Amino acid sequence: MPQNQLIIFDTTLRDGEQSPGASMTIDEKVYIAKMLENLKVDVIEAGFPIASPDDFKAVKTIAETIKDSTICGLSRALDKDIEVAGEALKNAASSRIHTFIATSPIHMQAKLNMQPDEVVEMAIRAVKKARQYTDNIEFSAEDAGRSNPEFLCRIIEATINAGATTINIPDTVGYTLPHQFGALIRHLLETIPNADKAIFSSHCHNDLGLAVSNSLAAVLNGARQVECTINGLGERAGNAALEEIVMAVRTRQDVFGCDTRIDTTHIVPASRLVSRITGFPVQPNKAIVGKNAFAHESGIHQDGVLKARETYEIMLAQDVGWSDNKIVLGKHSGRNAFKTRLKELNVEFESDEELNQAFARFKNLADRKHEIFDEDLTLLVSQNKNANVDDIYELVYSEVCSETGETPQATVSIKVVGEEQTAKSKGGGPVDAVFKAIETIVQSRAELKLYSVNNITRGTDAQGEVTIQLQINERIVYGYGAHTDIVIASAKSYIDALNKLHTVIKRQHPQYDHDGV
Ligand code: KIV
Ligand code: ZN
Repeated sequence: MPQNQLIIFDTTLRDGEQSPGASMTIDEKVYIAKMLENLKVDVIEAGFPIASPDDFKAVKTIAETIKDSTICGLSRALDKDIEVAGEALKNAASSRIHTFIATSPIHMQAKLNMQPDEVVEMAIRAVKKARQYTDNIEFSAEDAGRSNPEFLCRIIEATINAGATTINIPDTVGYTLPHQFGALIRHLLETIPNADKAIFSSHCHNDLGLAVSNSLAAVLNGARQVECTINGLGERAGNAALEEIVMAVRTRQDVFGCDTRIDTTHIVPASRLVSRITGFPVQPNKAIVGKNAFAHESGIHQDGVLKARETYEIMLAQDVGWSDNKIVLGKHSGRNAFKTRLKELNVEFESDEELNQAFARFKNLADRKHEIFDEDLTLLVSQNKNANVDDIYELVYSEVCSETGETPQATVSIKVVGEEQTAKSKGGGPVDAVFKAIETIVQSRAELKLYSVNNITRGTDAQGEVTIQLQINERIVYGYGAHTDIVIASAKSYIDALNKLHTVIKRQHPQYDHDGV
């Protein structure tokens, strides 16, 4: 690996999936992994194989599918975890086992109930065990940000001697400040005698909104791997956002002196995909991938950009994958034009059947929408792959009557395990009426926690994308639907959430404690 390469380790599928409500199906994970491979992510943390049979299967399938990125599986410092990770990864073209144990006083005492010496012994043993499966071993000192630096030096030296090739320094609770985190990395690199035998990595959480700043401070002080997630998805306030780190390093080459292998033109599609699959909307003012990230509203800015783009723009929107909103296809476009444009967008179909299904949806959309943009196309194809949730409920028909001065009324028919049922309901608005009609049939008693609607492209015939959040007890799921008719998009999102809820309940989603040993 070149000295000035910064390794991008993406943990969207592991730490990202630990966000409440962000659980993904195996197909969805594989689809995201393919997107990460196209993005040229160096290491994909595909999951935590011991956590559940589904996690194991997801890591195994990804390991067997992805060829150009290293596939990593997480394990606690326990023999069984490492054996299961080794098994899940055994067919990978390139694999890594990531093993971790907590090193901060509070974690060692309150959580592990272990003495520091025992923790060091356990870490050494875990790394040696992991070496039986692969030469590529990452060791993480969990809660390093609140650990004693001298203890960190001791455990890291020992784990490098035991065979760890990457040493990850997590700020697990997002507590450190950039100058402290940078100084910690520098201290470790300068003090640990065998530090040159491993790559040092950062893994920062965003509790104080500093995950990206802390990661960049780590890079400035010698870290050569950054752990991050698409859109900053992750536990609590999330992890460091991949897109922000990659673009900071790329844009400020003068400061960092290193670069990543990331093909940045895939960043926006990757962000959209993760947002759509998890149901976590991207805030409009989010750096790089937010809808407004490259929009200039004020007259002074617009004027400046028209005279010289660099007056107010430090990056090119196209470089991170924003399309210039050109009309690409329409009603008369054929199968070949459809396939060719998608190929240009780096989307390939695995079978003719998949192509045919997507093309049928394209024709259907083109009947309702005059101009089809790249965003519409990528959405159409991603719908092909989102097939792993149990389709208990299927929307057949919805009709809404909404008149000035009258209470809106909806009639909805849905198939429940193949059997069609119809209900009518009134509501405060057309969407409310549709949701109530669906509830009359399904009786989920789920609470609607969030409803949001966004246009995907410009124009009044644009597809609206609806994201909703449903909650039953502690379980939260997101639902997504897109259509030129936002009432139908809303109905689809509700059905999507119900199917996920059903799948989650049926599988008794593994509420594992990834921290506990
Ligand atoms: O935040 C954390 O400490 C983690 C470790 C498992 C690396 O996610
Ligand atoms: Zn984490």
